[in-house]
Amino acid sequence: MYRFIVNSKQIETSEDKKLLDFLRDDLRLTSVKDGCSEGACGTCMVLVDGRAMKTCVLKTSKVEGKNIITVEGISDKERDAYAWAFSEAGAVQCGFCIPGMVISAKGLLDKNLNPTKKEVKKALNGNVCRCTGYAKIEEAILMVAKILREDIEVPKVECKGLVGQNMHRVDAKDKTLGTGEYVGDLYVDGMLYGSAFRTKYPRALVKSIDISKAVNHPGVECIVLAKDIPGKRNLGHIIQDWPALIAEGEETRYIGDSLALVAATSKKVLKEALELIKVEYEELNAITSPEMAMKEDAPKIHPNGNILKKEVLSRGNVDEIIAKSKYVVTKKYSTPFTEHAFLEPESALSMPDENGVIIYTGSQGIYDEQREVSDLLGIEPEKVRVISKYVGGGFGGKEDMSVQHHAALLAYLTKKPVKVTLTRQESINIHPKRHATEMEFTTACDENGKLTAMKATIIADTGAYASLGGPVLQRLCTHAAGPYNYQNTHVEGTAVYTNNPPAGAFRGFGVTQSAFATECNLNLLAKMVGISQWEIRYKNAILPGQVLANGQIADETTALKETLEAVKEEYDKHEYVGVSCAFKNSGIGVGLPDIGRCILSVIDGKVHIRTSAACIGQGMGTVTTQVVCETTGLTPDVIIVDSPDTAKTPNSGTTTASRQTVFTGEATRLAALKLKKALNSKSLYELNEQDFYAEYSGITDCMGSDKPNPKSHIAYGYATQVVVLDEKGNVTKVLAAHDVGKAINPKNVEGQIEGGVVMGLGYALTENFILENGIPKSKFGTLGLLRAPKVPKIQPIVIENSKENLAYGAKGVGEIVVIPTAPAVQGAYYKLDGKFRTKLPLENTAYKK
Ligand code: FES
Repeated sequence: MYRFIVNSKQIETSEDKKLLDFLRDDLRLTSVKDGCSEGACGTCMVLVDGRAMKTCVLKTSKVEGKNIITVEGISDKERDAYAWAFSEAGAVQCGFCIPGMVISAKGLLDKNLNPTKKEVKKALNGNVCRCTGYAKIEEAILMVAKILREDIEVPKVECKGLVGQNMHRVDAKDKTLGTGEYVGDLYVDGMLYGSAFRTKYPRALVKSIDISKAVNHPGVECIVLAKDIPGKRNLGHIIQDWPALIAEGEETRYIGDSLALVAATSKKVLKEALELIKVEYEELNAITSPEMAMKEDAPKIHPNGNILKKEVLSRGNVDEIIAKSKYVVTKKYSTPFTEHAFLEPESALSMPDENGVIIYTGSQGIYDEQREVSDLLGIEPEKVRVISKYVGGGFGGKEDMSVQHHAALLAYLTKKPVKVTLTRQESINIHPKRHATEMEFTTACDENGKLTAMKATIIADTGAYASLGGPVLQRLCTHAAGPYNYQNTHVEGTAVYTNNPPAGAFRGFGVTQSAFATECNLNLLAKMVGISQWEIRYKNAILPGQVLANGQIADETTALKETLEAVKEEYDKHEYVGVSCAFKNSGIGVGLPDIGRCILSVIDGKVHIRTSAACIGQGMGTVTTQVVCETTGLTPDVIIVDSPDTAKTPNSGTTTASRQTVFTGEATRLAALKLKKALNSKSLYELNEQDFYAEYSGITDCMGSDKPNPKSHIAYGYATQVVVLDEKGNVTKVLAAHDVGKAINPKNVEGQIEGGVVMGLGYALTENFILENGIPKSKFGTLGLLRAPKVPKIQPIVIENSKENLAYGAKGVGEIVVIPTAPAVQGAYYKLDGKFRTKLPLENTAYKK
């Protein structure tokens, strides 16, 4: 028997198990999160005899006689202080890392109530946050220290929730204190644990699957093979090429392919059963690069061959203009796969319903899941109800099916609730990555540095399945010319299937890759012309009314020049400094259906905001609350944001393409105008049970439109970032000026910028996703994610050039924040040592040899 104290209660257990599992599964302490189970992320941090420790690397036997404190066990004053300070500072986004941060902070503040910023950073070294960039978390901890040190009363929260105010996020308190529920926190009576048995080889012929031993193992409820799928076996948002299960006699396409599903009464039985499944393979040579896949005699990964998509965009007479241009550069660039590394591994809980299933999920689009699961089960979409819990980060990596379909299939067939949660390594191995690319870019300018033409060839490794590879390739190509005023461009892009993990949506959606090439070429041209990196961008920056290289006329809100001007003084101050610009679409655009929807339901004197727009950390519920308050004059205390639920909330599309603030924000504004009108004659109580519905549909022109100036997208955000190095190559400062139209919640916008810059610095300097013969070799702890002590000062500059257009003039900021950072770092290194680096992550730097 092991005895220890948890939150002042004496605990006894005879089981020697992982302390993390004991605290979560046995004591149901939801503040202790399971982010990696390998001692790398810090989400499971608790205090053990006053020391912050990770419970995934401790066992119950090791804490015999110890005193354990989780966030549930901190004092009332501390709870109030942490909840207020983290909300006030804007320190909470997806929130999955936050309770762990609170514990590390408490470990520090219990010993030192007057810490320096450096000491706070050091205390957070064991905690990874992928969303915030750490600055606001550090600020919040210093606020808590002051409250506790000076015994100040925790301030009351008073905010009208108007657009432009720093309203506390509606979910910040729950997330800080660990009471907010993510799918992994859900337990249901009689719940089974499900998992997939996955292939051993990226490419192999599956000769036989023997489940005879596993199926008879005590506690195994059911094993599902491809033949048991009642509906369509292949899934995919756009192209249905991704089988939920691979059948005997078929070939696997990557290391994440599933061959069988198991549901069992406990995690332990589940693990044992998976080990009892025996598969006979014929291993085949994996195709691990586009080069291999494009060879004429290469085996076909899919029946139609190895090319997923080709894009050719051409405007003007490129070759002739390049031949006549004074300066021309041609360079090859190479960018790697990148892992999203959201802190919450994928999890879904599914339960049988009368005729179908209910799925609790944490993803980026509940209606995509409804459609695909109903196809898989062969039942009508209405029989699949999908409800979202909090989402512990996504960044594009939770757009595709990962666990939802498997949980639903098991629940449907067993008629019992089933939870499927990926281990961190499964998550790394399975979900689509940012595309690795090989690019050749030629850029030309005149004697003054005015751009004249560009030509690009891009090969993107799209891995085993289509995922969002087609649209990613499109954005990669449509943004390849950069946000500049010139017209002669020719871009050829190809997305190629390989046996690597699929590549799909990732914050920046292809533009992170092409912007690296475009912007680095500008640095070379600037040198040839004899002007600064800043000057060449300023000379060419697109202005309102001018025509972007894709033919779209830049609208009146375009504020790229303003972002350049905002960083000029800082740029001029430093010697080792790089600068880069970017633009990024808000909305899916290119003629595709793109609709935001909202219902405002009045119930018992409260207004329920109902949209299916997923909050993956960007603060969607807070945005819609502020839009309703601004429009109606109601205050936040009468507003309730309901969870996305296909039975209650209308389809607002996927959280992708930086679209939700604009599209669902505008739909919410339109619904709020109707509510406001009704409130002119009646009180909220008199409007009981009335719904106010609106939708906003963005109309754009399709790709290849023959209009002279097609409108590809509803809006574009613009940005300039400056990166400063010291003489040793350490990044000492980043300035990030972003044209956001209108900041609905400025703190939220700053948080997006800071987090995006840190992700961009990782992309530039430290992150690498190692693949060997199609098999990921990276673990969470070796992905190269930046931790608090390594993050430099980041200064966000929010440029508002709203013309009161859609959603009070807001433009999406979720993706663009990550795009200019890597080329700005490259430019700074070029200044520092004269070496022109063309590969990410950059080599021979202070961060990587
Ligand atoms: Fe830290 Fe999302 S808020 S990981």
